[in-house]
Amino acid sequence: MSSRRDDSEPVVPRSVAVIMDGNGRWAKRAGLERIRGHERGIDAVRTTVTECAQLGVEALTLYAFSEENWQRPQREIDLLFKLLLRFLVDERPTLMRNGVRLLHAGRRERLAPAVLRTLDETIALTAGNTGMLLCLAISYGGRQELVDAMQSLARRVAAGELRPEQIDDAAIRAALYQPQVPDPDLLIRTAGERRISNFLLWQISYAEIWVSDVCWPDFGREQLLEAFRDYGRRVRKFGKVL
Ligand code: IPE
Ligand code: IPE
Ligand code: MG
Repeated sequence: MSSRRDDSEPVVPRSVAVIMDGNGRWAKRAGLERIRGHERGIDAVRTTVTECAQLGVEALTLYAFSEENWQRPQREIDLLFKLLLRFLVDERPTLMRNGVRLLHAGRRERLAPAVLRTLDETIALTAGNTGMLLCLAISYGGRQELVDAMQSLARRVAAGELRPEQIDDAAIRAALYQPQVPDPDLLIRTAGERRISNFLLWQISYAEIWVSDVCWPDFGREQLLEAFRDYGRRVRKFGKVL
């Protein structure tokens, strides 16, 4: 007898992370400007957040803007943050209705004051929600997160609060941007690229990886359930012999 789960049954992971890629390609294929792809990408964010919250995902981390994305043309950066700002305001009723609590992962330094203010307001508004954690990775880099974590640990050692031998897995985790977000069980990347692009380097050590060929604006409930169905077929051994 095979212990494989029924192919048609999606299994909902506890923690999901998504590299939302392919907005530009989606727009190019439709003969539109790249920014139109980002606009449509917002609709896919709304669908994915709502579906995950309703399916019972505990934590969803979305890669919205990477440290490397600062190298894009200023016009595209400005438009991306304009869309993000609008999203952070417009989605408040939906987040509240679904009991979603917003978190931010990333460096705050380069974010414009208006973005920080709106981000912080939405975080404060949803702080009492007890449903899904929605962690937006904005101005985020996996290496930068580790650099920041190591600096904060080193400062504590220098201040005599921590001994070097106390730096273990748990101490490093506690120094990450959002330690309460469980490590992703499933990492989804859209638009077919098979790379990590500096996302959650510490946290994805045992994530199952699912690459969808669909560009992010076309990613919806059906594609999410397809990923969850495949996740249900994975045998997670964590290095052990089963
Ligand atoms: C993802 O889409 C959105 C961000 C990285 C902000 P892209 O803009 O990377 O789209 P492609 O990869 O050029 O198609
Ligand atoms: C990763 O996508 C970053 C986000 C989705 C925010 P990119 O399009 O920036 O990554 P590369 O350039 O393909 O590695
Ligand atoms: Mg891309």
